[in-house]
Amino acid sequence: MLSTLDDLKQRLQTALVNAFGPDLEGTDPVLVATNNPKFGDYQANVAMSLAKRLKEKPRAIATKIVDHLTIDDLCEPPQIAGPGFINLKFKTDYLQAQLKAIYSDDRLGVPTATPAQRTIVDFSSPNIAKEMHVGHLRSTIIGECIARTLEFLGHDVLRLNHVGDWGTQFGMLITHLRDVCPEAITESSSVDIGDLVEFYKQAKQRFDEEEEFKTTSREAVVDLQSGDESARKAWQLLCEQSRKEFQKIYDRLDITIQERGESFYNPLLEDVAKDLTSLGLLEEDQGAQVVFLEGFTNKDGNPQPLIVQKSDGGFNYATTDLAAIRQRTVDEKAQRVIYITDAGQANHFAQVFQVANRAHWIPDGVELVHVPFGLVKGEDGKKLKTRSGETVKLKSLLDEAVTGAEKDLQTRIADESREESAEFVQEVSTAVGISAVKYADLSQNRTSDYVFSFDKMLALQGNTAPYMLYAYVRVQGISRKGNIDFSQLGDAAILLEDDSELALAKHLLALDTTIMEVARDLYPNRLCQYLFELSQKFNQFYDRCSVLQAEEPQRTSRLMLCDLTARTLQLGLSLLGIPVLERM
Ligand code: ARG
Repeated sequence: MLSTLDDLKQRLQTALVNAFGPDLEGTDPVLVATNNPKFGDYQANVAMSLAKRLKEKPRAIATKIVDHLTIDDLCEPPQIAGPGFINLKFKTDYLQAQLKAIYSDDRLGVPTATPAQRTIVDFSSPNIAKEMHVGHLRSTIIGECIARTLEFLGHDVLRLNHVGDWGTQFGMLITHLRDVCPEAITESSSVDIGDLVEFYKQAKQRFDEEEEFKTTSREAVVDLQSGDESARKAWQLLCEQSRKEFQKIYDRLDITIQERGESFYNPLLEDVAKDLTSLGLLEEDQGAQVVFLEGFTNKDGNPQPLIVQKSDGGFNYATTDLAAIRQRTVDEKAQRVIYITDAGQANHFAQVFQVANRAHWIPDGVELVHVPFGLVKGEDGKKLKTRSGETVKLKSLLDEAVTGAEKDLQTRIADESREESAEFVQEVSTAVGISAVKYADLSQNRTSDYVFSFDKMLALQGNTAPYMLYAYVRVQGISRKGNIDFSQLGDAAILLEDDSELALAKHLLALDTTIMEVARDLYPNRLCQYLFELSQKFNQFYDRCSVLQAEEPQRTSRLMLCDLTARTLQLGLSLLGIPVLERM
């Protein structure tokens, strides 16, 4: 089935060719949704953009297009307005038929992408022995949503956790571990080394203050790199411990991701440097091996270097990403690699991509995209901190969201004199709290900083998870009240009479374009906005039209609209990583 918008687009494209000849093949008809129903549903603005090229007045062009447009099965007779806008209004019959078609489709009219792309989503990626911070939380939530969306479209997605599990910091960690907990390394059973973040702080302090510790730490790095057994054991122990902590967060957030940390690329780093040398790209700069970048200059106006091998022979974060590009495009055959990190790393990726490009390591047709996001701020507009001024632990942040959700729920239960089991309360508050955190993040344009506010994200009104979940619950309430089995309505007709029904129907038909846009541009907030407007349109419809009390055939038709809204919400929310609730 052709989507509503694609159908319209194709008709216009055919008309353009028929009116002005094959030169106009593939011209974008510049369709925009109108903001005033007076002008119909869509406006084609192509006549204005063609005026120069065709040396004709836009209005005359618009008239010719309309003369060649075969569209009566879709639209009312097109109207030309102003300088040459073509106003198009869908016929109700057509909308009813389209809606009926998506109603009986499990994918709700969203086609699978052809061809499917082998895609890597590199997200979350915290660092071993360090706290997973709110930046990683953003990456985790956005990455999961992007991966789910691409998978739903049928792409072959590999989700990778590029954990920071390698580097010189392991020297001090291993040395500290050897001192304070030698049995951890010698015993075969794993030993709990306690709070890793505290452990990291202690190691760092000793590294900064004790000369001897520093020297031993440097030696430990060499040990680790040369595969010394005790160093490796210590390293593994540290990684394992961190992994357990990260996994707790992933479990709570329902995140699926495969760990493939920086250490994985370690054996490939030498070759990166070697190959860059033979390509003539690597140069010596103050003892280090670097590639001088194009378009990046230092304060003296000289080309900035990207260090590939440090003067002590060690490799770094950038070298690892270069190796990863090769491994991912060659071994993994990735056609699109999506990196989700804070905007602060934009330069890092631009530089690494440039070097990979100049080395011809990016095969034709392969797209590497950095998906940057802004900072998470506290309500005071500053970096997110606890009341006592410490950095916020993700665990306590999620706990607080759940507690807030529970408080709201208890109030509602009391206000409505409901009786609910402790189990229900726990289940609903956990789902609402976690969903609220995810939704608050995803509903922002990711490139801007966002203010973290429990009150706002938990509110039952506004562009929030609870509002969306509530719209879904409302529909389930209708089915319970009327004892309706939605799955049995399929054969009836959908009739769109009231304006609110038409508005809801048109919005339901835009799901496919919305999801495809998210997959292309990687802005989850568009899907949130879509779902928010869907909930609003549903609520308007439900306020104006009676459903259970309506006469047939409206009753069944309206029940189908309710059901389709709920299924659309469920699907959309699932792509955001948010499960629906039957009651709340
Ligand atoms: N570990 C890094 C950090 O915490 C993020 C890694 C992102 N992925 C990558 N391929 N560089 O900032």
